[in-house]
Order: sequence, then C-alpha cells, then structure tokens
Amino acid sequence: MTSTHNQHLNDTSASQTPTQGQGSCWPDHGGQGAALLDRLGLSSVTPTMDVSASLNPLGPPVWLSDWLARAMSDVRHYPDPEHRDAVAALAASLGIAPPSVVLTNGGAEAIHLVARAYRRTRALIIEPTFGEYARACRLNDIEIECLQLSGDDFRLDVEALSARLAAVDLVFVCRPNNPTGTRLPRSDVEALVAAARRSDTLVVIDEAFVDFADDEAPLTDLVEQGEPLVLLRSLTKFYALAGLRLGYLVASPQRCRALQHHQVAWSVNGLAAAVVPELLADSDFARRTRDWLYSERAYLTAGLRDLGLTVVDSLANFVLFRPPGQASQANGEALLAYLARHGCLARHTHTFSGLDGAWIRVALQRRADNDRLLRWLGDGLESLPEQGDAPSRGEHR
Ligand SMILES: Cc1ncc(COP(=O)(O)O)c(C=O)c1O
Repeated sequence: MTSTHNQHLNDTSASQTPTQGQGSCWPDHGGQGAALLDRLGLSSVTPTMDVSASLNPLGPPVWLSDWLARAMSDVRHYPDPEHRDAVAALAASLGIAPPSVVLTNGGAEAIHLVARAYRRTRALIIEPTFGEYARACRLNDIEIECLQLSGDDFRLDVEALSARLAAVDLVFVCRPNNPTGTRLPRSDVEALVAAARRSDTLVVIDEAFVDFADDEAPLTDLVEQGEPLVLLRSLTKFYALAGLRLGYLVASPQRCRALQHHQVAWSVNGLAAAVVPELLADSDFARRTRDWLYSERAYLTAGLRDLGLTVVDSLANFVLFRPPGQASQANGEALLAYLARHGCLARHTHTFSGLDGAWIRVALQRRADNDRLLRWLGDGLESLPEQGDAPSRGEHR
C-alpha cells in the first residue's frame, strides 16, 4: 500500500473517532494500553498490570493451549456455518431449544447484528454504558435517544424509560451495566418488556457480564414466552478469551433466523466454535472463578471505600469509583495518570457519558494484585495537590 493510501486510511479513522482529546484520542475500550499511555503522554512506561479490560484473571483455562495445539490440525477446514455442536452445548446449558441460539464473534458481533437488522430506525440507549451500542447505531443510520442513569448509585427510572418506548424501535439495556456494575432488578425487566410489547419495541439486554453476577433466575423464560426480547452474551470475559472471540445471542427462533441473515459467513472461526462445549463442561473453572470473584469483589470494594473513594456496588468483575468532592474530575484524572506512571493501566471514563474522566473503572484481580492496586491508589491520593472535601480514610467503610 502506498503512503498516500495509508495517510488516507489514518485520516478517515481519526475523523470517525468521537473522543478527541488534546493530543491523541482517548481509547474507546479497555485493553488498549499503548493508546492510553500515548494519550497520557506516558508512552515510555512499561505496563506491569492491566485492570482496564474486565477479563477473568483465572483464565483462560490452563488446558486451553494444549487443546488449541491439537485442534490446529482442523484449521484447514471450513467451520460448520451453523456451528451445530457449539449451539447445542449452549442451548443445553441454558435449557432452551437450539434454534433460539446464534453463535457470534464475541458479544460485539451480536450487538452489530441487531443494529444491522434495525437499520434506519430509532434506538434508546441508557447512559453511561458500553460505547459499542452507539457505534453500531451510527454505522446503521439508527437515530439515537439517550436516557441518563442518576445519582452516584446510577439508578434507572423504569417508568420514565417505559414512557419513552413508544418513540423508539429498540432499547439497549446492559445488565449488569458496563461501566457501573449495577443491575436492573428482574421485576423492572418484566415491567419494561411488558411496556415494550405494547409499543412494539425490541428490548436488547446485553448480558456480557451475567456469568459474574450473583445467581438470579435467567431471563431465558421471557424469551421462550415470546416477549420482544434479545439476550446478548459473551464468553470473552468469563473465560478470558478476548483474542479468540466468542459470544452468542438468545432470541425466538424466528428472530434468530432474521438476525443470522445479517451475519457474515464463518464470522466465528472454527477453533473458537469447537472449544465451546469444552469450556461449558469445565465446571471446576466456573466454581473457582465464582469463589475468587465473591471474595475479591467484597475485598476490593471495602479497600477502595477505606481509602475514602466513592464506590459503586458492583455485580460484575469490575468496580467503578471516584474521588469524592468538588475536585473529583481533576483528581480522577490525576489518579489515572498516577497509576499509569506506575505501570498500572486503569479504564478512563472520558468516553462514558456523564462520567467525564472523574470516575475510574478497574477490573478485579487476584489478591496480590488487588493489594498492589490499593497501595498505588493510597499513595496516589496522598500525592494529589487538591483533595477537595474528601473524607479521611476509613470514614466510608
Ligand atoms: C457490555 C459489553 N458487551 C459486549 C462486549 C463485547 O464483548 P466481546 O469481547 O465478547 O465482543 C463488551 C466488551 O467490553 C462489553 O463490555
């Protein structure tokens, strides 16, 4: 490719990115360490810990590399376009019929399939939330309306939401929500779906982090009852397979067929599809993950509150917090930069509506790394020039 072509491509992608900072752009997602360091003017720092992408630190399962090595002999073949074995395993794990499941290239592809099927319509997005809903809508000429969560506990006014359904064709609900970790109660989901039925609106519930959430009756029964509902799932986070890419969606068989119509042939690679039954059969990995999660989520949340930070109660494998007081935005940015200078990459919140850099999201790690993170944050807080009206340590416990 000529340098002119390169220049053209670079220019195009830069102009499409909505998150321009003073120098380079704030990266749109976690796990983009080089871009984050570049934006902070810290390109020379060598990262030692990445808490910006919410991946299970116990994964991928230890058997995966041997399994992949053996499976390499199959890479010369096209995968089954229907991914029957993977779909059957997922359907059995959920207790639903296989025609209600579509395997996707990560949860991200599932989001884009819905948006493609709803091209040139109107969507409601509840902010702050995962940025890919808005991006998928923009790419498909879908008009976007927004509803903002309120307060430091990010409450959703379900009545206000239901009242706005008549004006849109679909609504995206992230549950538990990225980046807050909060979850709309099932009773509110039922009320929302009932209102959506009346206004002929599709409810899209992104459950990418559902495997980390405390047990609750799954929403698959609502799909089976024929409600206007699509559930989006990811195996990427729980099994730490961000590079392999695996997700799926659950909907009525008719809706699944309509969504599959927009899917690129073989969008899920053969290795990823073939490993699905093996992953689901590893109950020991799932049990160890839940044991780790319940212990470390409580530990890190308490540790952050001990430091005087304002922390959102999370049902996911990440926690959102901010320095309290009027200087929280400046202090949030200073803390993010302090962590980065020490090689710790946290998730900035400049790309989340209403959070504006004051808040920081961190993914739970194993105990030793959670302790390291708490120490850095403690030291970082002490080094802040302006602590606003931050309470003293321990006051929030
Ligand atoms: C809420 C949510 N949905 C979907 C995704 C995409 O997941 P995947 O990596 O499986 O495409 C993410 C990734 O961060 C996410 O946060």
